Amino acid sequence: MSHIHIDKLFKTYPGTPPVRALENIQLDIAPGEFVALLGPSGCGKSTLLNTIASFEGITSGTLTVGGQSIKAPGPDRGVVFQEAALFPWLTVWENIVFGPKAQGLKPADYQDRAEEMLRIMGLADFRNHLPIQLSGGMRQRVGIARVLTLGSKILLMDEPFGALDAQTRLSMQELLLSVWDRLKPTIIFVTHDIDEAIFLADKIYIMSARPGRIETVLDTHFARPRAIELTATQAFNELKLSILKTIRQH
Ligand SMILES: Nc1ncnc2c1ncn2[C@@H]1O[C@H](COP(=O)(O)OP(=O)(O)OP(=O)(O)O)[C@@H](O)[C@H]1O
Ligand SMILES: [Mg+2]
Repeated sequence: MSHIHIDKLFKTYPGTPPVRALENIQLDIAPGEFVALLGPSGCGKSTLLNTIASFEGITSGTLTVGGQSIKAPGPDRGVVFQEAALFPWLTVWENIVFGPKAQGLKPADYQDRAEEMLRIMGLADFRNHLPIQLSGGMRQRVGIARVLTLGSKILLMDEPFGALDAQTRLSMQELLLSVWDRLKPTIIFVTHDIDEAIFLADKIYIMSARPGRIETVLDTHFARPRAIELTATQAFNELKLSILKTIRQH
């Protein structure tokens, strides 16, 4: 089970002076939970995500996934950044199956899954395109299809839609909600967009300015499946206002 457990986690980047990026973080995320990390620029959101991905070590504290302390990045934790880091010389299909191939799997072991993810992400007609022939939103879809094909049960998403225009961003949010409804991965979604956090997540962790701490945890309680109409409801706007007030206090 991919239960993420973080307790008394501190992260300081060495240097003169050292940067205290995270302080006393405590976080427990159940399998299949969809959580958002919300906070101002520089508060340590990416640092926290990168420690869970094992791209960064921790200074002290506990960080376990499924009860095991994690030492290195692995296919169990798929990472999606603001810009999908695709191989520009490989087609959509080749990018998607690159990971399982590199792991030494046989085509029979990953082909069906890759086909399914290609379909779910609406990329079936673009399998032979190169990344440069795709829009930004489509490139992000390839990035998501790639980690899902790897079989990652945990998606670590660092402002994945931050570089997209408003309309594309909305359709990507809807797509991610439908992916979650079908596959129920655990998602940790970093954003500084309050609407995005409320629309997507079940739980919102609000971080303080540096050194990053978790100030508040909010449950959104909105039913799924969710549709855009949710963002126009009174309950949505009340929650948004209370988050704005919380952030202003810190
Ligand atoms: N590799 C690094 N070495 C030294 N300091 C770093 C490193 N990475 C991040 N920092 C510092 O740690 C702090 C937290 O950075 P981080 O990137 O985690 O913030 P963030 O919340 O993701 O910000 P943003 O919303 O702008 O992406 C910042 O002060 C940053 O300068
Ligand atoms: Mg960041």
